[in-house]
Order: sequence, then C-alpha cells, then structure tokens
Amino acid sequence: MPSATRRHRQRLADMTGLQNLATTTTTTDPQGAYRDLQERWGVVAPVELEPGIHAWLVMGHHEICQVVRNEQLFSRDPNNWRLFSEGVVAADSGLGPMMFPRDNAYFADGEKHRRLRGPIDDGLESLDEHRMARFIRATCVDLLREFESQGKADLVADYAAVVPMLTVAGFFGIGREQGHELRAALIALFSSAEDSQPAAHQLERILSGVMTARRNAPTDDLTTAFLRHANLRNDFEIQQSIVLMISAGYETTTTWIAQTLRLMLTDSRFAGRMRGGRLGIDDALDEVLWRDPPMSNMPARYALVDCELGGAHVQRGDAIILGLSSANNDPRVHTDDAWLEVGNRSHLAWSAGPHACPAQRPGRMITRIAVDTALHRLHDVTLAIPADDVMLLPSPWTRCPASLPVRFTPPLPS
Ligand code: HEM
Repeated sequence: MPSATRRHRQRLADMTGLQNLATTTTTTDPQGAYRDLQERWGVVAPVELEPGIHAWLVMGHHEICQVVRNEQLFSRDPNNWRLFSEGVVAADSGLGPMMFPRDNAYFADGEKHRRLRGPIDDGLESLDEHRMARFIRATCVDLLREFESQGKADLVADYAAVVPMLTVAGFFGIGREQGHELRAALIALFSSAEDSQPAAHQLERILSGVMTARRNAPTDDLTTAFLRHANLRNDFEIQQSIVLMISAGYETTTTWIAQTLRLMLTDSRFAGRMRGGRLGIDDALDEVLWRDPPMSNMPARYALVDCELGGAHVQRGDAIILGLSSANNDPRVHTDDAWLEVGNRSHLAWSAGPHACPAQRPGRMITRIAVDTALHRLHDVTLAIPADDVMLLPSPWTRCPASLPVRFTPPLPS
C-alpha cells in the first residue's frame, strides 16, 4: 500500500469527529472551509452528510474529472451506495431528494443513461433560440409587473424561484397557471412525506394532461419531442424525463439568478464593472459560476471497486461528493486575476463527463434574461437590508440566498 494511503487510513482511524458537509456551504467563507479540509486531509476529505453518514468530498479539479469521466469505477446509481442499500440511511432522510434513486437518466449509467439522455439532448437541440428568448423575456416581464407598482419585493421568492419553473415548464407547453401548480407539487413531493402522495397525484394529472393534449395535437414543444422519441419506451419514462428536466433546472437556475442579483446589489466592485460596461453580462454570469457555482457540492458517485483517489483509500460502495465550488478555486485552473479569467470557462459548474448538464444554453439564457430584465425594469433598485444580513437557505449542496428584499421606484401609472 502506498505510504500516502497508509497515512490517510491511519488518520481516518484516528479521527474523532468528521466535519459536516454543510459547513462548506453555510459559511461566509466557503473557500476557507475547503482549505481547512484540504490542509487536514488533502484534496479528497471524509465528511459527514448527516450524523453517521459518511462520504468523500473531492475538491481537486483533476480528481473530479477523474471521477465523472470514469463510470466503470464510479457509478451514478445510488443502488451502489452501501449505506443506502444496507438501510443505514433513513427512508425519510433529508438526503432523499438529491440522493435516492429514481428511474431517469440522472441516476443511470452506461447504455441506459445514453438511451434516456438522448431525448433530452435532442429535445433541447430542437428548441428555437429566438422563440425561447422571447418567451423567457415575456415570462420575466409578466412576473415583474405583478409587483412593480408596489416599489418593493423579495427578488428570490417573487422572482428568482419562479422564473426557472415557469420557463422550463413552458418549454414543455405547460402554461403559467399549471406551471405554478407544478412548482407547488414538486416542492411538496421533495419536502415532506405527508404531502408527497397528493403531490405525486397532482404531478401525474398535470403531466398526463399535457401528454394527451400533445398526442392529439402535436406541436414543436419538448413534450411532443419526447412523445416522438424512439428511445422513450412508455408514458412512465416520458413523465420521468419531464420531471427530471423540470426539477434539475429549478434549484440550479434559481440559485444562479439569485446569486447574480445578490452580487449586483451588494458588491460594488461587481456592479461597477458590469454597469461601467467593462464586464458583459455573460462575463458576469461566468464570474458567478467560478466564484459561487449554483451547485457548490454535487451528489454523488458511488465507488464500484476499492481504489485510491487523491491519496484517499475509497472503498467499494462509498459515496463521493463532487466539490465543484472548491475545484473552481484550484490554482491549476484558475488565477485570482479577474482580467486573466475573462473568457476562461474551464470551471466545473456544469460538471463534466457523460452526466454534464445538458441544458447549459437554456440555463444561461434563462439566467441572463432574468437578471437583465429585472435590472432594467426595476428603477433605482437597492437592497432593503444590510448586505451582511442576507441569509442563505440551509443546504449542503447550494448557497442560495433565502431572500433578497429590495426597494425600487415604481413606474408611473400609464
Ligand atoms: C442554470 C443553471 C444550471 C446549472 C449550474 C446546472 C448544473 C448541473 C450539474 C452540475 C449537473 C450534474 C452533472 C453530474 O452529476 O455530473 C446537471 C445535470 C443535469 N441538468 Fe443541469 N444545471 C442547470 C440548469 C439546468 C436546466 C435549466 C435544466 C433543464 C432544462 C437542467 C437539466 C439537467 C439534467 C436533465 C441533468 C442530468 C443529466 C444527466 O444525468 O445526464 N439543468 N446540471
């Protein structure tokens, strides 16, 4: 056994208490938290997801690429997670929504993954960008109109958390009202056991409705594309693929919009560079992907064999978390010089390998239009609380502001 591995095993045996993964997301200094972990363990550190549930947090850019590009060694399927299959993780664990298996591309490997991923890639490819942009802008303007006259709003609850659901649902031909219903159903489905049964029925009713409608009258939306795709074998697979797209796009895009708006409202250097025209909106969005990517830590891969990873001795069945935010700070890919970094897109905000986010273009388009439209329409917008009082939603995965209360000058009545 190499000496580094032996040392690591010894340290693991010596440890008294592991750090909870959420200490890297709930702090004001995530990079400091990753640094502390690396000083103690190296680029692959053992962490606790919840009491008694251990996983490895991979923090190096190179090591994450090694994991996500090698599905022979590292599976996406949680059925390969020892603590899950042995029933150590409670059925009502808060890890469930992100880590328990469901029958879709996200949780599949190899051939099954490619079969289920095909319709997603083909469907997104078929969307007309100009129409998509018009639709996203109209959705944003309608939402802003709902509160513009009040001169105040919470830009997370009233806007950033609503735009992604309504727009992605819209790509499937699901209208505004049903988009709101769908959002409520998905939140209930993923949050508490009591609400999950009625929520699942509600979801099923909305999706069956739109599928029947498109069967009778096909159009050029994603529901029609999925219905026609030879890779999807039955209605169940079509529904699961729709739910995957809508849920995968929700928290990520909400966080990206909210983080960008937060920086615009609280970081004068960032806002000044953008307002002064020295930073285009796409460069600003990239800066957020580098500094605070929507998924700070991404679950998960499961080791299929005992192996060494970045000096850590990983055992078959261990869970591996992708520390995307930490990897973005890896000096091997990123410098501290903002000007050198313009145009550098080697960050891992979208991950890499076969499961890399398929929706990078629409995700960026939704975020760009949402931020741009809000900043143009809300005159003299300022944060209504001190910058330091902006709280984050508690999560080991993301660093989404819980709310962004703002004030602005309402438009003159027309
Ligand atoms: C805009 C911000 C977004 C970010 C930062 C983001 C990021 C990610 C990341 C990190 C992954 C995981 C890759 C892995 O496990 O290795 C992922 C997967 C995925 N994302 Fe996104 N995403 C975003 C928006 C969206 C949107 C808008 C959609 C849908 C329209 C979407 C659909 C998906 C799907 C379906 C997967 C699973 C792909 C697979 O397993 O093959 N994402 N995304």
